[in-house]
Amino acid sequence: MNYQVLARKWRPHNFTEVVGQEHVVKSLINALQHDRLHHAYLFTGTRGVGKTTLARILAKAINCENLQDFNPCGACSVCRDLDEGRFLDLIEVDAASRTKVEDTRDLLDNAQYAPSHGRYKVYIIDEVHMLSGHSFNALLKTLEEPPPHVKFLLATTDPHKIPVTVLSRCLQFNLKRLLSAQIFAQMEFILQQENIEFEASALKLLSRSADGSMRDGLSLLDQAIVYGNGKVQAEDVRAMLGTVAQQPVEDLLIALAQGDAAAILDKINEIADLTPDFSEILQQILQVLHRVALLQQVPTAVDHDFDAEMIASLSSRLIPEDVQLFYQIGLVGQRDLNLAPDPRSGFEMVMLRMLAFRPVPQEQNPVKLVRIQQTADNLPIKPAPPVAATVHRNESSVTAVECDWLSMILAMQLTGPARELANNCVLENIDDKFCNLIVDPDYIRGARAEETLQKALQTYRGAELKLVIKAKKTAQETPAVQLTKKREDKQQAAVEAINSDHNIQALKDQFDARVLPGSIEPV
Ligand SMILES: Nc1ncnc2c1ncn2[C@@H]1O[C@H](COP(=O)(O)OP(=O)(O)OP(=O)(O)O)[C@@H](O)[C@H]1O
Ligand SMILES: [Mg+2]
Ligand SMILES: [Zn+2]
Repeated sequence: MNYQVLARKWRPHNFTEVVGQEHVVKSLINALQHDRLHHAYLFTGTRGVGKTTLARILAKAINCENLQDFNPCGACSVCRDLDEGRFLDLIEVDAASRTKVEDTRDLLDNAQYAPSHGRYKVYIIDEVHMLSGHSFNALLKTLEEPPPHVKFLLATTDPHKIPVTVLSRCLQFNLKRLLSAQIFAQMEFILQQENIEFEASALKLLSRSADGSMRDGLSLLDQAIVYGNGKVQAEDVRAMLGTVAQQPVEDLLIALAQGDAAAILDKINEIADLTPDFSEILQQILQVLHRVALLQQVPTAVDHDFDAEMIASLSSRLIPEDVQLFYQIGLVGQRDLNLAPDPRSGFEMVMLRMLAFRPVPQEQNPVKLVRIQQTADNLPIKPAPPVAATVHRNESSVTAVECDWLSMILAMQLTGPARELANNCVLENIDDKFCNLIVDPDYIRGARAEETLQKALQTYRGAELKLVIKAKKTAQETPAVQLTKKREDKQQAAVEAINSDHNIQALKDQFDARVLPGSIEPV
């Protein structure tokens, strides 16, 4: 009957126990080390990421009688009193429940008196954005001329609601959402300490659902333990969460990449049995697309969460233009979802719209060829067989097919900056020692893209060749130019078709209609 929820039981007591937030911990320890504590700190960040926890640890560290490597010792009377919530010089206020100006004034009036036990009087004001305007003014007065023995530690999820006058007097630390992998590791650690049996796959589902919040993660874990009668198993967790977490998102995006409407509807049908929150699934799709786009454009910006593999796989299956398009449609879809007759049909329409608005595949469009080819093979890293069946490998003479730079780009399955670079080059010649490319002098290329391209060429040729890119003007058209031209031709044809359309002409004549500039798109 004495069950204490995990989040409370496992609240970190010192800096070392805090998961993540290294940037904040490091600054605080530095300040303690050099005795350069600011008089007011503001911790911001979403729910359950360690704001209150860090404020309490700092309060302890400020007064601890026996700091251990700048960590509160946990044993002195200050640490013990503080952990048990009876340290007189810590004044903890939950602004959400004490918003009246008198309350704040009472509190702050006492600030002038020296601490009774510790070195500093510490005020922790949680949810500080909830203070009323008058209360903020009272706080501001004290912040302007803080007595030397007072420290303010403020915390909020909503820094935008705090007056700038207050903000500017605080040292602000923005806490990050935690990675699923960090939440996973903490759950694993806690369950081991608690001697509770668990399946790793169950923890994966739970840590993803925590959505970056350690507290939410641990609350879900509490629920899962009760649900599973003292064990944490994937099947129970799945049933408990009412959704299959990330898997359907990945499946849906793969079906989308393959342009397979039937598979999408099948998948939705499957998901629907679990009575999921479709808005939540759409949200997850958007998050995944965002990470895919990041990986494609800035490979170094990627976090190393445990679903990094899925993100890598998707980013090789989807082309950047589609990722942007899907994201945009998903975003608008999210907004309109509650206007749909029911969430499921709304969700279906969003997914189908993503398909419908994708450009129609075209024989010469390299992008489409890549897509068709990649559906057969879900491994992003493995070098694909060349599109053209007649390429002769290990032959040092240059065959006609290999001279076709566009086909080579396709065959190498390049993505992101490397493909961008390749598309902007023309091929001068290639053999097993060198690949000579020409690029426009105005084109800005990154060293990393060049490196990636060289590796792809080496794999493609099966030889340790060196990539040499010369910057000079050339009359030859790059694949990028060819593609733009093709697009412009199509656009031109579309505009002409609209302008010569009888019905449109009739609309113009009879209703004084006009075609909105820029609204014509080739189908
Ligand atoms: N960075 C972290 N490392 C370890 N545990 C954490 C971390 N952040 C949160 N927790 C866990 O979640 C619980 C709640 O954390 P805390 O009260 O610090 O969150 P918060 O950011 O103040 O959230 P809120 O905005 O809801 O007040 C802690 O008791 C702890 O168990
Ligand atoms: Mg808090
Ligand atoms: Zn101590």
